[in-house]
Amino acid sequence: MALLQLERISAQYPGSPEPVLADISLSLGPQQLLVALGPSGSGKTSLLNLIAGFVEPSAGRITLDGVPVKGPSAERGVVFQDDALLPWQDVLANVGFGLELAGVPKDQREIRAREMLALVDLAGFDSRRIWQLSGGQKQRVGLARALAADPRVLLMDEPFGALDAQMRLTLQTELLRLCRKLNKTVLFVTHDVDEAIALADRCVVFAGRPGTIDHVLDIPLGGERNLVQLRSDPRYVELCAALWKRLAPDVAGAADPASLAHSLEVV
Ligand SMILES: Nc1ncnc2c1ncn2[C@@H]1O[C@H](COP(=O)(O)OP(=O)(O)O)[C@@H](O)[C@H]1O
Ligand SMILES: [Mg+2]
Repeated sequence: MALLQLERISAQYPGSPEPVLADISLSLGPQQLLVALGPSGSGKTSLLNLIAGFVEPSAGRITLDGVPVKGPSAERGVVFQDDALLPWQDVLANVGFGLELAGVPKDQREIRAREMLALVDLAGFDSRRIWQLSGGQKQRVGLARALAADPRVLLMDEPFGALDAQMRLTLQTELLRLCRKLNKTVLFVTHDVDEAIALADRCVVFAGRPGTIDHVLDIPLGGERNLVQLRSDPRYVELCAALWKRLAPDVAGAADPASLAHSLEVV
């Protein structure tokens, strides 16, 4: 049973001659981590903005647990590409920001915010200012803020894209650990093939202009992944080749029938 369902979604920005997304159907089961993989400009951020309720589709339907999405809600937590934190507030206030908007009293939201900071390994950072944090720490704060409202679905827009390789690996590992611990359902957007394989249970490959779903690939590597050892796993190599063949067939060579056999029905 799908938790989040997109049925034949199309979207177009006002004044734009062509749709940004065309006929997107996908479903996300509870506790699944779905990666949307696509090149820059293929509409990944637009897709998350639609699901978050910041933008309305021009056609189609988005439902969470069967209920149509209408505008933003704490049920759908977003971790943004840039950290989108409030620089004049301290870490605790940033983590509690969504709860403040929801009208949760200060003492309660501070308790919750401290709990979330401990989860993302930032206990004791409460009174730090945002400019006193590293890039990785800022993304941990962004994740803690999104988790604070206990969303049904976590929407993550290339959150580790600006981090160095080591920090990215650490945060990817942390994300997998948190998803298991909290039983979270995640839609994670990236342009990075390696990141898609590292995180996904299932990967949806986007093609651009307008953004459409080109391919869906299961990533059957289980929840307990060692992301360093994974790189030398033959399954990783095979999945990498299959995804590159979809993203850059001219460079990677045409997709062979065996890799196409992995493809699934989209819905
Ligand atoms: N607010 C907007 N108004 C008009 N066009 C936009 C807007 N946001 C994004 N676009 C356009 O939509 C396309 C897809 O953008 P985006 O969803 O950001 O893709 P991605 O996240 O995959 O890079 C791009 O051509 C971009 O210029
Ligand atoms: Mg984007």
